[in-house]
Amino acid sequence: MSFTKVEPAPVRLCRSQLFVPCVRPALFEKAASGPADVISLDLEDSVAPNDKPQARENLIQALNDVDFGEKTISMRINGLDTHWCYRDVIDVIAKGGERLDLIMIPKVGCAADIYAIDMLITQVEMEIGRKKPVKLEVIIESAAGLENIVEIAGASPRLDALHFGAADYAASTGMRTTNIGGPNPDYVILTDPDAQESRDIHWQDLWHYPMMRMVAAARMHGLRPIDGPFGNYSDPDGFRAHGNRSAILGCEGKWAIHPSQVGLANEIFTPPADEVEKAEKIVAEMTKGQSEGFGAVSLDGGLIDAASIRQAENIVRQMDMIRKAETARK
Ligand code: COA
Ligand code: MG
Repeated sequence: MSFTKVEPAPVRLCRSQLFVPCVRPALFEKAASGPADVISLDLEDSVAPNDKPQARENLIQALNDVDFGEKTISMRINGLDTHWCYRDVIDVIAKGGERLDLIMIPKVGCAADIYAIDMLITQVEMEIGRKKPVKLEVIIESAAGLENIVEIAGASPRLDALHFGAADYAASTGMRTTNIGGPNPDYVILTDPDAQESRDIHWQDLWHYPMMRMVAAARMHGLRPIDGPFGNYSDPDGFRAHGNRSAILGCEGKWAIHPSQVGLANEIFTPPADEVEKAEKIVAEMTKGQSEGFGAVSLDGGLIDAASIRQAENIVRQMDMIRKAETARK
């Protein structure tokens, strides 16, 4: 371990992050009464330009009137290159009471973007005497965002999470694909011919590199890595495969762009019972081994050592948090 200690962001359950366009206020109550861990009230790309001011008013009213219970509430503001951005921050914090937990900044390109929004938030919070500081989450979804990700992830103590946004990232880097987060049938390799001259096609994950960088940069600064949207909400199997690979890579949750994806995300980002059982066994066996003077021991025919404890403890800690949150909701 490095001598530099990483302070983790506050614990927050975020297996599913349901997006709700703020032009559809009828959806607020539905989202509030559903099983999503986080509700993302969207002012950005799901709202047409002419509707931006009304969407903001709807959001403010919802923060004051809707009972969101124990859920984390986030709002996605418009980007720093628009004229809606500053009012999204100022008006909503000034008029929305204390219910908002997070502001999600889209299309972040450099650390100064975080600095600018942090300054706006700080000024409004000081003015109104807000008790609970608003935290920040950032979408990495551009070439600049990915290249500057390390400085972005360390830009402010308000930061809580990094998200990967596939569609805008693809647009920004000129990737030849139009789906939102899924695979592409042309991004494949062909195996060499076997003895029967037969060749297999292996589909590749075209989002692997930015996802891995996002996870590492987030963890480097104690932030949660979250996977973004999977656009085809009529394909639960595709969502499941995509989400499972994000969970394996270290993500703690995934966006849901339709309510049908919420339950899937909650299931995917809850560690499977057999993994939890195995992790608890590793911790127990290693603790016993260490008390007997062994740094490495065998378990079910394989090696486990101190690194295994650290891997296993992550799973046990995640499960503890889920159990606590679910008990608190009952
Ligand atoms: N939050 C809460 N409830 C939602 C919802 C959402 N985001 N989207 C749909 N619902 C509700 C509908 O009102 C409907 O409820 P009902 O059964 O009581 O009538 C039910 O879920 C089924 O909805 P459906 O008819 O399948 O969807 P739709 O055609 O109304 O809307 C979308 C489909 C994709 C337009 C909508 O889900 C949506 O706007 N998603 C978020 C998009 C977004 O924010 N994108 C930006 C981030 S990528
Ligand atoms: Mg986007």
